[in-house]
Amino acid sequence: MRISVIGCGYLGAVHAACMAKLGHDVVGVDVDADKVALLSSGRAPFFEPGLPELLEETMATGRLRFTTDLAEVAGAQVHFVCVGTPQKQREYAADMRFVDAAVEGVLPHLAPGDVLVGKSTVPVGTAERIAERLAEVQPEASLVWNPEFLREGFAVQDTLHPDRLVYGIPEGPDGPHAQAVLDEVYATPLADGTPQVVTDFATAQLVKVAANSFLATKISFINAMAELCEATGADVTQLADAIGHDARIGRRFLNAGLGFGGGCLPKDIRAFMARAGELGADQALSFLREVDAINMRRRVRMVDLAREVCDGSIVGRKVAVLGAAFKPNSDDVRDSPALSVAAQMALQGASVVVTDPEAVANAERAWPSLTFAATPQEAAAGADVVVLATEWAEYRDLDPHAFGEVVAGKRIVDGRNVLDPGKWRSAGWVYRALGRP
Ligand code: UDX
Repeated sequence: MRISVIGCGYLGAVHAACMAKLGHDVVGVDVDADKVALLSSGRAPFFEPGLPELLEETMATGRLRFTTDLAEVAGAQVHFVCVGTPQKQREYAADMRFVDAAVEGVLPHLAPGDVLVGKSTVPVGTAERIAERLAEVQPEASLVWNPEFLREGFAVQDTLHPDRLVYGIPEGPDGPHAQAVLDEVYATPLADGTPQVVTDFATAQLVKVAANSFLATKISFINAMAELCEATGADVTQLADAIGHDARIGRRFLNAGLGFGGGCLPKDIRAFMARAGELGADQALSFLREVDAINMRRRVRMVDLAREVCDGSIVGRKVAVLGAAFKPNSDDVRDSPALSVAAQMALQGASVVVTDPEAVANAERAWPSLTFAATPQEAAAGADVVVLATEWAEYRDLDPHAFGEVVAGKRIVDGRNVLDPGKWRSAGWVYRALGRP
């Protein structure tokens, strides 16, 4: 099929390459000329495991190209809207400018029978609004709301082998046509047995924010338990293992620590609260305020722990922060808990050096006032305390004996509960972690 993908960020670039991998003829469009130039030369504009190889493979087939010219979507039958919906400045609500611009840009190029597909995470009601515009401009085209659930770091795998496909389709005769077209797009994953939920617009839009709210709640639940563990001397990692054995609870997404960040979970739960308020249903989501507050408290607690191991003050102390990305296997620093902690400590008078295997360039752009180093050894040279903030494999695997040689004081605060306390303590380190004795 001929497909266009509008927006080539963490979602769209991967989606475009994966659609080409599934055998389709794809054009990816983005307003950022530098990004398009990189993608056109077969290079990924951000770190995502497997994407460079996939770009190389699919570009070589001639079935994938990138452009800044939105007019080139003409001729495609299916158009995926993959632009961002960041949080508005000084408000919880989502900023819909990019979605609105993408839709208005693509509308004049739609032909009868075309299907416009929304993948961006949007406030419920957006699809209905876009469908009305579509009916005005090209009544013979139709809209499907098809939310995306990919995780950064696993984006290629999640797109090629999704755990479910959700379609919000229009009422009336357009619905079956739109569904049939999208079924053809996803013929391979559907043949693999991917579960499919076909529903209305409102449900499809809510599925995405409901899923992210549940995940955020699960993380904040275990982090609330970590606060109780800190108050009682209990161990939150053992608590999580024990409750996780109950299949109804499950162990995944129960890792206590610095909490969630990134370009999705924090802004999605806030936008969901804002939308619920507009709908007069704000009480239904008031618990998400607490989820958000628990999450943000972990960052403060992390700084307090660093202060505790430094005998009550971090002023003038040398701090090495391992990790800048919001999670491992990503270079994304949007709302990164690691950078939030690093910046707080710097503002409180510590001398902070941050390292990350992939995210230093992005982190430097976001926080030019922080100091960065290429390796954990460089960051920790002469450090009084080491703070593990993002659980990259190479930080989990650090040898406490060799690493102890580079620091000035063997003090480590494990913000992700991934180090073996016994191993580090027996190598002479003071080891502290969130929610552990
Ligand atoms: C998330 C959703 O998982 C995905 O389905 C949606 O499409 C987009 O948002 P992503 O932002 O890539 O994906 O990251 P995710 O793996 O969900 O992690 C989010 C944050 O939670 C990270 O900062 C991570 O470190 C943190 N986290 C995750 C925990 O603190 N504990 C956990 O147990 C799991």
